[in-house]
Amino acid sequence: MKEASTRKIYDIQSIVYDYTFGKLVKKRIRLAIEHMKIQPGDVVLDIGIGTGGALPFYPKHGKVIGVDLSSGMLREAKKKIEEESYDHATVFQGNALELPFEDSSFDHIFISHVISVVSQPELLIREAQRVAKEGARIVILNHFLSTNRFIAMFEKWANPLCQKIGWRSDLALADIVAKTQIEIDYRYKLRSVDIWETVVTTNNKSALAVA
Ligand SMILES: C[S@@+](CC[C@H](N)C(=O)[O-])C[C@H]1O[C@@H](n2cnc3c(N)ncnc32)[C@H](O)[C@@H]1O
Repeated sequence: MKEASTRKIYDIQSIVYDYTFGKLVKKRIRLAIEHMKIQPGDVVLDIGIGTGGALPFYPKHGKVIGVDLSSGMLREAKKKIEEESYDHATVFQGNALELPFEDSSFDHIFISHVISVVSQPELLIREAQRVAKEGARIVILNHFLSTNRFIAMFEKWANPLCQKIGWRSDLALADIVAKTQIEIDYRYKLRSVDIWETVVTTNNKSALAVA
């Protein structure tokens, strides 16, 4: 999946995103942000912030920076910032695979429904590890390939269709962990049967040297 085509897909989706997928994932996003335990003065990077569905849930005592490829998605995020006076938030266009930030800049990183959208998921994680401070929380919310053989077969079968709408359904969390050495503290689903999962990790800079 190439970034140029992804940008076009999400420019189009930006018109309906908040009324469709954005609605479905709101509660998960709110809870995932609570798990970051953002303290006064903390700086959070939201990678692939999209239409800014997460913005209402970031405490105003921290600072939020959002990046996204799609100008259409960012237009919606900027509207929210202006209309709701989210003065603690800034968004701009950028590629998650080449983040324009110095090493160790952020206290928390949120990656919500983006890791299965980018062309190189491992590179996205490595970039997050690089720009996050040592010990920072990196929280990933996403769908991952099921460990149930039959469900996984279906997810692999559905993958070509999912790719047409901007994401892949065959991304295995175990592969990401093996390739990036990311340290998972815990992971949870909202319901016992749920296609989305929240993965809470702590940044360990030594993983960058190994990966
Ligand atoms: C499914 S949406 C998720 C939006 C939001 N994070 C959420 O959970 O509602 C995926 C977002 O990732 C963005 N994206 C995809 N590839 C990206 C990249 N390489 N760099 C930055 N953003 C990217 C898309 O433009 C889109 O806004």
